[in-house]
Amino acid sequence: MQILKIRNDNNFNKLEKFGKILQDGGLVIFPTETVYGIGADAFNIQSVKNIYIAKGRESDNPLIAHICNLDMLNLLVQKISPLEKKLIEKFWPGPLTIVFPKKEKVPYVVTGNLETVAVRMPSNKIALKLIEYANTPIVAPSANLSGKPSGTNLKDIKNEFKDKVQGMIDGGNCEVGVESTVIRCDENSVTILRPGKITPNDLLEVADKVVLDKHIFENIKSDEKVQSPGMKYKHYAPMCKCVMVMGEQNNIIAYVNLLHEKYKKVIFMGSNQIIKHLNHIDCYSYGDEGDYKSIANFIFTLLRKADKHKPDILVIEGVKKENLGIAIMNRLIRACSYNIIDCDINNK
Ligand code: TXA
Ligand code: MG
Repeated sequence: MQILKIRNDNNFNKLEKFGKILQDGGLVIFPTETVYGIGADAFNIQSVKNIYIAKGRESDNPLIAHICNLDMLNLLVQKISPLEKKLIEKFWPGPLTIVFPKKEKVPYVVTGNLETVAVRMPSNKIALKLIEYANTPIVAPSANLSGKPSGTNLKDIKNEFKDKVQGMIDGGNCEVGVESTVIRCDENSVTILRPGKITPNDLLEVADKVVLDKHIFENIKSDEKVQSPGMKYKHYAPMCKCVMVMGEQNNIIAYVNLLHEKYKKVIFMGSNQIIKHLNHIDCYSYGDEGDYKSIANFIFTLLRKADKHKPDILVIEGVKKENLGIAIMNRLIRACSYNIIDCDINNK
């Protein structure tokens, strides 16, 4: 297994070797602006199967194909609608994944047997150069074992994959910290299947209508049909018991104190504004209240850290469902298995 440490401004020619590993059917972990991905040649069926094995991923949960230019898009998709074209012009390269009708030659192992294929052009320069050297679209799910938090730096995920991939590229911390926004377009409207850095307001600059799929914040009933298979599966969950707290600052503090009396080892993950009142509790700061950029950056690495410290309960402060907060809440609600306490009601 080969490892390369590289930053955005140096020695991109060292990536050639990793492009070759992908061409030869190997798996390579690489940074993107959102989270780390575990990549394979989209047209090599055995390599794509190896990704599912390495992650322990369900075979009906499709992968995103990553491209570095629009010629590669044409290898994958049947047609591009006028709205999709406008979205591509505005948001690519960047953290937006679009679901298109697939070309016949895109293997079903990539699309989980669907007739559609999800595509994105990342903006991370290392990712773009790697795909260019590989000279083929690269499918890459987030580099984490299925169900676990995504990886936003190589250190967090290295051990999970060290015997399962042929290459790893350490490109430092990911800039965004949560996975790309996944959308589907119909005529002039966009449906968000997974929220991310590109928000509904951003998309409204191009589309007439933007709707959030109802499963973004809700648990799926076992017989319900979903638009994006990833919604069905357990996600981002640490091993410990995990609960989300919402409400006024004082009520959250009072509730965490109650939990501190009830449980031996409590870890609180939240904003500096609350943490300064919880001196007696083990706290992980994700930044200032409302600083969604910071919060998005920290959540996955803190979920992993909490898991290592094995608390009896991990208490996570929720955020407002606005802008990037929508993506953050989508991940945190799942991490807490939909276990949400309204501390304002609880303290009455
Ligand atoms: O930011 C990202 O998107 C990262 C980096 C590595 O690029 N990748 C990522 O991949 O998050 P993954 O596999 O962890 O999540 C892909 C999501 C899943 O929820 C999957 O169900 C959905 O995209 N998806 C993929 N293909 C789809 C399709 N044809 N139709 C609907 N949803 C699809
Ligand atoms: Mg994932």
